[in-house]
Amino acid sequence: MSLLLRYILGLCAISTLTPVFAADTGAWSSRSVYQTMTDRFARTDGSTTHPCNTTDGLYCGGTWRGMINQLDYIEGMGFDAVMISPVVKNIEGRASYGEAYHGYWPQDLYSLNPHFGTEQDLLDLSKAVHDRGMYLMMDTVINNMAYFTNGQDPSTSIDYSVLHPFNEAKYYHAYCPITDYNNYSLAQRCWTGDNIVALPDLKTEDLTVQTMLNDWVQEIMTNYSIDGLRLDAAKHVTPDFLPVFQKAAFNSFVTGEVFDQSIDTICSYQNDLTSVPNYPIYFALLDAFTKGNTTTLPDNIEIMKHSCPNVTTLTTFSENHDVARFASLESDINLAKNLLTFTILFDGIPMIYQGQEQHLSGPYDPKNREALWLTTYDTTAPLYKHISTLNAIRKHANQVDPNYLATQTYPVYRGSSEMGFRKGREGHQIITVLSTQGSKSGAYDITMMNGYQPGFVVMDIFTCRNYSTNDMGELRLGMDGGEPRVLFPVNLMNGSGLCGFVFSREDVRGNV
Ligand SMILES: *[C@@H]1O[C@H](CO)[C@@H](O)[C@H](O)[C@H]1NC(C)=O
Ligand SMILES: *[C@@H]1O[C@H](CO)[C@@H](O)[C@H](O)[C@H]1NC(C)=O
Ligand SMILES: *[C@@H]1O[C@H](CO)[C@@H](O)[C@H](O)[C@H]1NC(C)=O
Ligand SMILES: *[C@@H]1O[C@H](CO)[C@@H](O)[C@H](O)[C@H]1NC(C)=O
Ligand SMILES: *[C@@H]1O[C@H](CO)[C@@H](O)[C@H](O)[C@H]1NC(C)=O
Ligand SMILES: *[C@@H]1O[C@H](CO)[C@@H](O)[C@H](O)[C@H]1NC(C)=O
Ligand SMILES: *[C@@H]1O[C@H](CO)[C@@H](O)[C@H](O)[C@H]1NC(C)=O
Repeated sequence: MSLLLRYILGLCAISTLTPVFAADTGAWSSRSVYQTMTDRFARTDGSTTHPCNTTDGLYCGGTWRGMINQLDYIEGMGFDAVMISPVVKNIEGRASYGEAYHGYWPQDLYSLNPHFGTEQDLLDLSKAVHDRGMYLMMDTVINNMAYFTNGQDPSTSIDYSVLHPFNEAKYYHAYCPITDYNNYSLAQRCWTGDNIVALPDLKTEDLTVQTMLNDWVQEIMTNYSIDGLRLDAAKHVTPDFLPVFQKAAFNSFVTGEVFDQSIDTICSYQNDLTSVPNYPIYFALLDAFTKGNTTTLPDNIEIMKHSCPNVTTLTTFSENHDVARFASLESDINLAKNLLTFTILFDGIPMIYQGQEQHLSGPYDPKNREALWLTTYDTTAPLYKHISTLNAIRKHANQVDPNYLATQTYPVYRGSSEMGFRKGREGHQIITVLSTQGSKSGAYDITMMNGYQPGFVVMDIFTCRNYSTNDMGELRLGMDGGEPRVLFPVNLMNGSGLCGFVFSREDVRGNV
């Protein structure tokens, strides 16, 4: 689509009050994202009992229409963006390990996946999301298409003519399996998938392929008013194409999946895309809350600050559909609270995977794709409320100081089982103190410096207790039961909606 057409569409959007789509990184940086997997989020019939056997890997019946009816549940946690799993038509049928319910087996980029609903359903979902002032993020597959090979050799058994629009072998790399996922040139040139479901690997260095993908993404974002993208398997796409694709996607926010623990690798990808999921921090979080290691996390924070172009535009997560649920590794609810506290309050755009708020415990793909409806969307669940408190203070801190989210976190306290972090300028900072002890821990005090002036009063937003710095500026903080503490200046609490303070915000509902 030409820029002129986009401009005209933009004008129409304003005049009819239809949402303007494609938000840039700056606009996304204050957002907080709830990641859904459409097939497992909500059914059209609103059922909370319909069975879903994750092991079978079959469609369980979640739809866009069902999601529209559960947006209160998402908004109730304070999220202002929703990610949906890939929307395009996938290969139809059943492999030994299941069907394309997840959306990562594309067959036709120009049709929608009929299991999730119709064009009108997706349009309605987009409108319903935007009517709440929320952004819509779409998970996107551009690395590959898919084909059932059922054990046959992918180099000889694929009928490319059924794939759309990449309907000839010339659009793809010649078949080779990825024998070493740590070898990036191999990972980019060879095929993901296997010989049961082959994933023909698009030749993303080819200019024709690039143009076709660019045209497609402009159309689909325009058609459904998409504000930003997750880019699946970005690690496997030709790196030179990534900035080209982001630009084609109206230069909107794109976070590209590079599954790698290496800080250098993750940070270098930020030269190609404005954002990648923060895997180094994810692994450091596991070190902290499954092994009690309190050095990796603060160390990684210090290193990333100097290695990455901008940590505040990475996406921060502690669960997703590819990794073990935290509760499968460590069942303690207070450790889960600490984990979520860091995930939402650290630099970057938090992305919380559906079900984390219900403390689900699926240990790996596919068991970590539980049907959320079976939890009955319990809004009284402890982690549901915890997330809502965290999103509220993050928003509030950014309202009190519009530069808050662009400031970087740094460690301010290192104990044998505590980690303290500061984010925000003096007098406006949030101090987060995490514990790795778990709920069996007793009560004790720690004394820390945190950058507040002497005699300054801060409130812990979870217990609503006040703490005062002494005349040396030290804070004596009560820890108990392995609970996290989040401290904010009490004189700035008004407007937060927390601890009995009134709620006021300029950006709620249609006033974004
Ligand atoms: C990082 O990105 C944010 C959001 O776009 C921006 O406000 C900030 O200035 C950037 N920081 C640096 C150091 O470039
Ligand atoms: C789910 O399906 C698997 C494989 O078909 C089966 O072994 C298992 O018993 C099923 N689980 C439930 C809870 O029905
Ligand atoms: C990556 O794989 C290619 C092709 O097999 C090989 O030539 C190259 O040496 C490998 N690179 C590394 C760093 O192992
Ligand atoms: C976008 O909508 C137009 C008009 O309905 C349709 O022709 C086109 O195929 C759609 N493109 C995509 C990628 O959905
Ligand atoms: C914590 O993990 C780091 C590796 O990230 C390791 O070097 C260190 O020894 C660990 N510390 C403890 C106390 O286990
Ligand atoms: C905390 O301090 C504020 C401001 O001084 C005060 O209004 C509030 O009552 C205090 N809360 C508690 C629980 O002491
Ligand atoms: C708190 O904020 C509300 C809404 O902005 C305002 O009406 C009220 O006066 C404020 N209260 C205090 C004590 O500042």
